[in-house]
Amino acid sequence: MSTTTYRIAPSILSADFARLGDEVKNVIAAGADWIHFDVMDNHYVPNLTFGPMICQALKPHAKKPDGTPVPIDVHLMIQPVDALAGAFIDAGADLVSFHPDASTHVHRSVQAIKAKGAKAGLTFNPGATLDVLDWLIDDIDLILIMSVNPGFGGQSFIESALRKIEDARKRIEASGKDIRLEVDGGIKADNIRRVADAGADTFVAGSAIFGKPDYKSVIDQMRVALK
Ligand code: DX5
Ligand code: ZN
Repeated sequence: MSTTTYRIAPSILSADFARLGDEVKNVIAAGADWIHFDVMDNHYVPNLTFGPMICQALKPHAKKPDGTPVPIDVHLMIQPVDALAGAFIDAGADLVSFHPDASTHVHRSVQAIKAKGAKAGLTFNPGATLDVLDWLIDDIDLILIMSVNPGFGGQSFIESALRKIEDARKRIEASGKDIRLEVDGGIKADNIRRVADAGADTFVAGSAIFGKPDYKSVIDQMRVALK
């Protein structure tokens, strides 16, 4: 019997950008646990999405029907990191993760996120090693493993991510800390179980959910697969 609390974090990258407020409300009503914000600057990745103002505008909608806040999980695919990380926290971000290779001083960037009261995460590209965790695992709350190359939704899952997830899970267990292990990219109802079996507990899904007419049926399928 798995005691893991699995979380589904729909990425608004694949949502209808003309109706983002409704999309956030609808995907939460469909059972989303977190709302994943894919922030891109057309510098660190070859795409451009949105800034803190969108986070501020959507924050009031990030609530369950009973009023319980739904965490806003900001994934910064930007360089430099620090200034905008702070601005997103001021705009309501609950978790902020960034790519270590996008910060000159990774430890300081983690400290700055935590000093502003948000949870800090590190994000690892398909070609990146987890080595920086040797020095930072005791300071972070979240590890985000990319199972696609950052920049676009709708890509296929990169299988080598499974080995990296297993390694990250071993590191978390060795640390004894309560760190979430999130995976981002190419997650579907038909592969989420394999990703969970490798050790993930939090799943970003953009096109699998927002590309479909019934968000709840997709999220329910994912939960059944995770049972
Ligand atoms: C890549 C993005 C995507 C997105 C998920 O930079 O981070 O991975 O969140 O997109 P899907 O679920 O469509 O692969
Ligand atoms: Zn993401």
